[in-house]
Amino acid sequence: MKRRNFIRNTGIGTGSIFAGGSFFSLLASCTKGDMMNNNGMNMGGQPFPITEGNFSRLLPIPNTVTGNVSLTAQATTSNVNGNNISVLGYQANGILGPTIRVNNGTNANISFQNNLSEKSNIHWHGLKIPANMDGHPEDIVNPGSSFNYQFTVNQRAGLNWYHPHPDGATARQAFQGLAGLFMVNDSEEAALNLPSGNFELPLVIQDKRLTSSGITYNPSMGEVMSGYMGETIIVNGVAFPFAEVASRFYRLRILNGSNARIYNLAFSNNTDIIIIGNDGGLLKNPIAVKNILLAPGERLDVLVNFAGATIGTEIFLESRVFDNGGSAQGKQGFKIMKFKVTQSVNNSFTVPVSLSSINAIPPSSSSKTRTFVINAMQMSNGMNMTGIHRINDKVYDSSRIDERVAANATEIWVFDNSQGDEPHPMHLHGVHFQVLERKGGRAKLTASESGWKDTVLVLPRETVKIIIPFATLEGVFVFHCHNLEHEDDGMMLQYQLA
Ligand code: C2O
Ligand code: CU
Ligand code: CU
Repeated sequence: MKRRNFIRNTGIGTGSIFAGGSFFSLLASCTKGDMMNNNGMNMGGQPFPITEGNFSRLLPIPNTVTGNVSLTAQATTSNVNGNNISVLGYQANGILGPTIRVNNGTNANISFQNNLSEKSNIHWHGLKIPANMDGHPEDIVNPGSSFNYQFTVNQRAGLNWYHPHPDGATARQAFQGLAGLFMVNDSEEAALNLPSGNFELPLVIQDKRLTSSGITYNPSMGEVMSGYMGETIIVNGVAFPFAEVASRFYRLRILNGSNARIYNLAFSNNTDIIIIGNDGGLLKNPIAVKNILLAPGERLDVLVNFAGATIGTEIFLESRVFDNGGSAQGKQGFKIMKFKVTQSVNNSFTVPVSLSSINAIPPSSSSKTRTFVINAMQMSNGMNMTGIHRINDKVYDSSRIDERVAANATEIWVFDNSQGDEPHPMHLHGVHFQVLERKGGRAKLTASESGWKDTVLVLPRETVKIIIPFATLEGVFVFHCHNLEHEDDGMMLQYQLA
């Protein structure tokens, strides 16, 4: 009998595979609240509830810099919730790094100084740049050392971001504050005359676990399962902020920079979220929704219209409950930030009917299909509680090339979470892809999954198929779950383009 069937028949969490004996050592070394509920096993972990604040702090906007900049990873302080607490930053007094904003074609030259007491590096999430500049987990910068990231931006307009990627320490360093935005602009985007300046707001949404002195990061075993979540939502580095807005259209550039938490974004007045872009830039056409899921690593470019709201109106960006998120996610609705209408203006902007030309890649152009089983939790290593999260039963190993891909090939990759109990936002370095199909679970693509993506959410029971045009960026890149606890636990493989 297959082990999986054995587990099914005994009624212990479907999709979990335990090698003989280690299941019991696992139980012996975990506290009950960690991994079990009253019904027995709860291998997906527990929800971590949000404690809402009072939305009395002004939303800060990270300073914008060019592609010629110095970033210094450092221990510093930042006023996150009224107190100056210890954080990690890419600049002094900042939990977030500056927003790097460049036009397509720019030669970026970013000198990175690592003033942490541990190894770090920078990965440019969403940028299609050579492997030796990508911040591979083994390409690290030692404490006290520096590295120049030099590359030419060669991609369409879009919202990308940067964060550390050292093997095994990505999650903690990102959670303690190291992240920033990297925006690319181009002429196609400029021609649309989208709301800009004060009417284009970057929103980096993260959850943090705060004390009066700092950010706690000490995941228990259950939190390696669920991912590490916090009780406080911060936007652009400040807890539960507010923004004053005029009665007109705004463009919101949203990043879910959380380690693990998925948001089901909506506005409290149920106004339309008009999605115009995602990870890889503008969609073909705008699409209006009332709510949309945003997983760690994913970005959204949306228009929202505050026209018609009278002065004094308060509208909240919130996260609503959602289904299929496993045992730890989607159980609680909460407010994220407040928009307060303080100015009445004429609103002449109209949403463009067409945004960009995007050609769907025909599946027939794929030369190879690769399937990746991502249902995790093969407890084959006894008391050693790392390496629970795997891809095709493999834990990340920098000395092993898992997939060899030919330059310029187009391939279909399938992420199979059909037997899994946890959400996995799967992310590929070095490419953008199109999402072809989702089976099981939600059983369809969402409004933000057309166009180009670099991260796709695969919820429990789902199988998601993507099509990837690999170009000519030869070298070794990683692909992984962007639940950063899963990633640090080993849910990451390498492909080599050659
Ligand atoms: Cu944003 Cu490999 O990550
Ligand atoms: Cu990335
Ligand atoms: Cu995962």
